[in-house]
Amino acid sequence: MSSVIDLLKSHRSIRKFSDQAIAPELFDDLIKAGQSAATSSFLQGATIVRVVDKRKRSQIAELAGGQRYVESAAEFMVFCADLKRAGNYCDEQGKAFEGDFTEHFIIATVDVALMAQSLVTAAESVGLGICYIGGIRNNPALVTELLELPRGVYPVFGLCLGYPDQDPETKPRLPISVILKQEVYNEIGDRDAIAEYDEQIREYYKTRTGGGHGISWTEQVADLLSQKSRPHMKGFLAAQGFKFR
Ligand SMILES: Cc1cc2nc3c(=O)[nH]c(=O)nc-3n(C[C@H](O)[C@H](O)[C@H](O)COP(=O)(O)O)c2cc1C
Repeated sequence: MSSVIDLLKSHRSIRKFSDQAIAPELFDDLIKAGQSAATSSFLQGATIVRVVDKRKRSQIAELAGGQRYVESAAEFMVFCADLKRAGNYCDEQGKAFEGDFTEHFIIATVDVALMAQSLVTAAESVGLGICYIGGIRNNPALVTELLELPRGVYPVFGLCLGYPDQDPETKPRLPISVILKQEVYNEIGDRDAIAEYDEQIREYYKTRTGGGHGISWTEQVADLLSQKSRPHMKGFLAAQGFKFR
């Protein structure tokens, strides 16, 4: 078995970090590893804002719903989808800017995710732990203001990075039969497989919370999809110049 495959399968989010700093050379190397990810149309539509300032970190931790590890992680970065950098050259080359199509939004957002996940894999390979912070989208306008993001740039998620001070279990994923289909999409056998998986997830949460009531996966995701989810995002993105034409 490849050690990379083992590494990927051992991923778990870390939410408690030690005080140990990340050596600057290692940090640079992790950024380069992230930057080496594939990038759609060679757009390179991702920009990372590294947040060092303690006050700014606590403000973001608060905005993200009181997630204290945003402050305690050795590093915290905000990954942004960036259509501005490339868009600047439309003007310069006398071309009308048309970079506000839904497709452009997808390209840049996917670029961000790929860059982040490559950086994450590199980080985990040297014993670092990570936690993505989608919570920054609770208040994307204030995060945008704090980081001085211009139009054409939006914060997709944050990332905490540091040496782990905890050793949580890996979180079981859905059975392969549910997420991998042959030739065509179908839901054959999914309900039974997911019912079994629900029990596994209940146990996982019970163990993690020391015997508390474990919530199942289907309860969790049905909750998620039966509630409005950050309804401000549409207006926020429009204000940032993402028009979804
Ligand atoms: C884009 C993204 C945003 C996330 N946002 C948060 C967050 O704000 N806070 C948090 O504690 N975990 C966050 N997570 C972590 C997920 O909860 C976690 O990956 C998931 O529960 C699976 O657990 P695992 O990473 O330990 O395998 C996020 C993950 C992703 C991919």
